Amino acid sequence: MLFELSEEQLMIQQAARDFAQLELKPGVIERDEHQKFPAEQVKKLGELGFLGMMVDPKYNGSGMDAVSYVLVMEELSKVDASTSVVVSVNNSLVCYGLEAYGNEAQKEKYLKPLASGEKIGAFCLSEPEAGSDATSQQTTAEDMGDHYLLNGTKNWITNGSTASTYLVIAQTNKALRHKGINAFIVEKDTPGFTIGPKENKLGIRGSDTHSLMFSDVKVPKENRIGGDGFGFKFAMKTLEGGRIGIAAQALGIAAGAYELALAYAKERKSFGKPIAEHQAIAFKLADMATQIEAARMLVYKAAWLKDQGLPYVLAGSMAKLFASKAAMDITVEAVQVHGGYGFVKEYHVERMMRDAKITQIYEGTSEIQKMVISRSILGSI
Ligand code: CAA
Repeated sequence: MLFELSEEQLMIQQAARDFAQLELKPGVIERDEHQKFPAEQVKKLGELGFLGMMVDPKYNGSGMDAVSYVLVMEELSKVDASTSVVVSVNNSLVCYGLEAYGNEAQKEKYLKPLASGEKIGAFCLSEPEAGSDATSQQTTAEDMGDHYLLNGTKNWITNGSTASTYLVIAQTNKALRHKGINAFIVEKDTPGFTIGPKENKLGIRGSDTHSLMFSDVKVPKENRIGGDGFGFKFAMKTLEGGRIGIAAQALGIAAGAYELALAYAKERKSFGKPIAEHQAIAFKLADMATQIEAARMLVYKAAWLKDQGLPYVLAGSMAKLFASKAAMDITVEAVQVHGGYGFVKEYHVERMMRDAKITQIYEGTSEIQKMVISRSILGSI
C-alpha cells in the first residue's frame, strides 16, 4: 500500500497552494462580505488548467487524474471555498458529465470552451420542490419533434449568472417517473431563459447562486445528452464524482481552519504561556489533526479508486459524509481556539465556519450520503 503522492501530483498541489496564497487570500474577506464573484481568479484558474483538470487534452483539458483534482480542491478550499466551488462544479459536474456522456459534436462545441475555462458551466438539477428527492422533477421538457420545450424553475444553482452553458435536468414523460427524465445543454442567451436574483447566503458568499426560470425555452434535439430517458442516470453518475470534489472542499476548509488555529495557539499567550500549552487547547488541536487525517484518507482513497476505474460511489459518499462533518466540527473549534478574535472577520475562521455548512447540504445532504452508504452496505434485504 503506497501513501505517497507522485512528483507530478506534488507539483500540482504546490501550484494550487501558491495560487491560493497569492491570488485568493488577498480580497477573500471583501468578496465574502460583498458577495463578489471571483471573476479574475476564476479566469486565472482556467489559464492554469484547473477548470478542466480531468478532461482529455484533445478537448482542451489538462488530462490530470482525480487525485490531482482533490489536491487542488483541498488547497484552494483552505483559503477560499467560494472560489473552489466554481472549480468543483465546472470540473466534476459539467466537464465530467459532457465528456463521459456527451456525443462528439457536443464535446466539440460545448466541452472544449468549458475545459479551457473560456466559459463556465452550471449543473441544474435542484428545484423548489425537488432537492434531495431528485426524481420529483417538475421542470418539463416537451418533445416537439425537432426540439424540446422547457418550462419550470431551478433553484440554488451554482454559477447561476456567470455560466454560459447550463446542463438542465427535466421531465419529458411523467408517467415513466425517473425513466422519463432527460438532460439538456442550454445556452444562456436562449429566449425564455431568465436568471433570478442572487441568493443572499450564509456561506460561500462569493459564489453566485441563483434560481433559473424557463418559459417555453426551445432546446434543439441535438442538445439532449444521451438517449431518451437517460437524464436521471446522467445526474446520478455525474454527482458520484462531484461528491468527491465536495468532500475535498470540506477537507480543505477543515485543514485551513486548523492551520490558522494552530498558528494562533502557538502565538497567543494567556496565564503566562502560549495557549497551545494549555491542555484544553492542545487536546482540541489533537482532535482536529486526527479528524483531518482521517478525512484526507477517505477523500484521497475515493479519488484513487476513481483513477483505477474501480467502484467509488460508496467511498465518495463516505468521504463526503465524514469530511463535511469534520469541516463543521473543526471550524467551530477553530473559532473557539481564537476566542473573541475568532468572532471577527479579519481572522478568517468565522467565514470558514459559515462556509463549512454548505458541504453538508449540496451535492447530496449528509442524510442522502447515509442513504447511499446504507443501501450499499445492506443491499436488498
Ligand atoms: N448511478 C446510476 N443510477 C443510479 C444511481 C447511481 N449512483 N443512483 C440511483 N440510480 C438509479 C437507480 O438505479 C434507479 O434506476 P432503475 O429504476 O433503472 O434501477 C433510479 O436511479 C432511481 O433510483 P432510486 O429508486 O434509488 O431513487 P431514490 O429516489 O430512492 O433515491 C437518491 C435516489 C440517491 C436519493 C437521489 O435522488 C439523490 O442522490 N438525491 C440527492 C440529489 C443531489 O445530490 N442533489 C445535488 C444537487 S447538485 C448540487 O448541489 C450542485 C451544486 O450546486 C454544488
